[in-house]
Amino acid sequence: MTMRWDSLLSYGALLGAARALDCSPAAIQSLLPSNASVNFAYPLNANATFQVPQGDTGYPTNAVGLPALCAVSAQVQSIGNTTFGFGLFLPDDWNGRFLAVGNGGFAGGINWLDMGPGSRYGFATMSTDTGHNSSSGDGAWAYNQPGRLENWGHLAMHGSVVAAKTITAGYYGKDTSYNYYAGCSTGGRQGLKEAQMYPEDFDGIIAGAPAWWTSHLQPWTIKVALYNLPTTADYHIPPALFPTIGNEVLKQCDPQDGLTDNIISDPYGCNFRPEELLCGANVTNATTAGCLTSPQIDTLYKIYSDSWSENQTFTFPHLNLGSEAQWLLLSGSSPNSLGTDYVRYFLGFGADWSFYDYNESIQRLADQVDPGNATVKFDLSAFHAKGGKILSYHGMSDGLIPTGSTPYFYNHVDRTLKPRGIDVDDFFRFFFVPGMGHCAGTFPNVNAPWYFAGASQAQSLGPTVYGVPGFEDKEHDAVLAMMAWVEQGIAPDHIIGTKYANETLHTDVMRQRPLCMYPKQAMYKGSGDVDEAGSWECKMLY
Ligand SMILES: *[C@@H]1O[C@H](CO)[C@@H](O)[C@H](O)[C@H]1NC(C)=O
Ligand SMILES: *[C@@H]1O[C@H](CO)[C@@H](O)[C@H](O)[C@H]1NC(C)=O
Ligand SMILES: *[C@@H]1O[C@H](CO)[C@@H](O)[C@H](O)[C@H]1NC(C)=O
Ligand SMILES: *[C@@H]1O[C@H](CO)[C@@H](O)[C@H](O)[C@H]1NC(C)=O
Ligand SMILES: *[C@@H]1O[C@H](CO)[C@@H](O)[C@H](O)[C@H]1NC(C)=O
Ligand SMILES: *[C@@H]1O[C@H](CO)[C@@H](O)[C@H](O)[C@H]1NC(C)=O
Ligand SMILES: *[C@@H]1O[C@H](CO)[C@@H](O)[C@H](O)[C@H]1NC(C)=O
Ligand SMILES: *[C@@H]1O[C@H](CO)[C@@H](O)[C@H](O)[C@H]1NC(C)=O
Ligand SMILES: *[C@@H]1O[C@H](CO)[C@@H](O)[C@H](O)[C@H]1NC(C)=O
Ligand SMILES: *[C@@H]1O[C@H](CO)[C@@H](O)[C@H](O)[C@H]1NC(C)=O
Repeated sequence: MTMRWDSLLSYGALLGAARALDCSPAAIQSLLPSNASVNFAYPLNANATFQVPQGDTGYPTNAVGLPALCAVSAQVQSIGNTTFGFGLFLPDDWNGRFLAVGNGGFAGGINWLDMGPGSRYGFATMSTDTGHNSSSGDGAWAYNQPGRLENWGHLAMHGSVVAAKTITAGYYGKDTSYNYYAGCSTGGRQGLKEAQMYPEDFDGIIAGAPAWWTSHLQPWTIKVALYNLPTTADYHIPPALFPTIGNEVLKQCDPQDGLTDNIISDPYGCNFRPEELLCGANVTNATTAGCLTSPQIDTLYKIYSDSWSENQTFTFPHLNLGSEAQWLLLSGSSPNSLGTDYVRYFLGFGADWSFYDYNESIQRLADQVDPGNATVKFDLSAFHAKGGKILSYHGMSDGLIPTGSTPYFYNHVDRTLKPRGIDVDDFFRFFFVPGMGHCAGTFPNVNAPWYFAGASQAQSLGPTVYGVPGFEDKEHDAVLAMMAWVEQGIAPDHIIGTKYANETLHTDVMRQRPLCMYPKQAMYKGSGDVDEAGSWECKMLY
């Protein structure tokens, strides 16, 4: 504490000159209604480190190399005697705009790390703690806590946005000109939920790999794990065989998109035949032999199949062909806690509930209760009516949230709005990212062009990175693409993804390729360097 203040005080008065208010708790408090109280407010000089306060379990990593800014945190009273908190970075070199960033999994805490890149663009950047402190996979905070659930589901984001915009306007003495959102996973859900429930909050929403169908995604997380459990079953596929499966999928599903390049760009068009992996005669150990037994092949069929429930009801799309390198949900001796904690604590079955008791009544209950009203509905007409824009994307090799859940959402928004005369592409565009895993990154043998400054991506390149190094324009940078759409009416029909030869160096580019607006796909023009974006075009394949 002492060190931080000492190094900053000398700059405080100087920085205050361009603003309407001081960066001090009293000044910030004067802007807030009585239901909100300032935790802290102090200036940081350029290149400073923001020290994350003790107790922010969800996001303990310090934000480093920040521009000169005012760091603020406040606590807001919410329903049922609960509170939520938020953090706000107010950069001295303000671009006049506001950006909120999202959270991940069940994580409770202010996402200071993702606020860093936002403040480097010049946004007043906000993150909510969603009303609790916990790690991403821990849902115990929700047990018998409907107020906390509602905070997590939507109240904390909305309430934080409202309060943070008030602070921003008061601090700079000027209303924000445009308001943006960027989040991935739970962050993607939070963005879509805002569009659905609080259309006035944002002008532009970037929603990556959205966990929007909470009431189905969480139960499915248990169901898919049970396909491969217990580990003693003859049908269990040990994780040691996942690379073998991934290689066979690559062999069968890569060429059929027109180019053998280790990137599976059309998994939905692949007629994968798992039997190619069958063990031959005299194999005593399938794992060491690198093959699958007949019961294991059955498991593979389940993993790659959509989930259906009672009365022929579709409940969730399958994991994609090409997601094998990220099969975290299938690799343990119990399902991921994002599934089991949901049933135990969100649905209220308690800590003793055994996942082996999972049955479809859980799915039915989740639909009825929808804890925290977290699931996003399809009627985004109010957001469309006010001129809001949504840019969504999903890694085609996502092993945590099945890729198909986002086109499902997009298509159901279309089904809801087209009969009302609304062209969805006017305000909501979706982009597949071939070869990308969950929110960020590609796999070592794939090297897909996955980077486009999407939500939370910058931290994969380095702690002080923002935007797309070397390509600071709306063609390559999703944030700039969104700004051009909202502020100039230039709608993106593709975004160029970049794969750097070395992500942490991010100097030399290995390959770039357009990520196409769904349902178009990137097609190689037939000539030119396949690693250059200009050799590709986005086309309808029919
Ligand atoms: C920023 O701070 C880091 C670590 O505190 C230091 O290594 C670096 O030299 C500083 N950069 C500038 C431009 O001052
Ligand atoms: C979470 O931790 C922060 C940082 O210690 C604290 O300010 C906040 O009150 C905590 N939130 C809750 C809901 O306990
Ligand atoms: C806090 O109070 C303000 C002003 O009365 C109100 O607009 C806002 O909705 C309240 N916030 C919450 C989270 O209840
Ligand atoms: C509200 O929370 C405070 C602080 O945890 C506690 O002292 C108080 O008893 C609670 N009130 C109710 C009505 O639950
Ligand atoms: C399996 O092992 C038996 C006994 O060693 C041998 O006779 C047979 O040829 C083997 N079959 C194959 C297909 O290798
Ligand atoms: C098969 O080999 C794997 C890898 O060496 C080993 O972990 C496993 O225990 C073996 N299975 C059997 C049934 O012996
Ligand atoms: C399935 O259909 C039966 C017969 O119509 C009905 O009783 C039951 O409630 C349905 N189940 C679900 C989950 O909708
Ligand atoms: C389904 O699961 C629930 C919760 O574990 C349990 O109460 C119920 O008895 C199960 N139903 C059947 C038919 O097994
Ligand atoms: C949240 O869900 C409950 C129970 O379904 C419902 O009564 C309530 O209206 C919902 N709240 C909002 C804000 O949608
Ligand atoms: C990438 O660059 C960093 C920084 O120079 C270096 O430490 C790392 O070894 C490089 N990684 C690879 C895979 O070459």
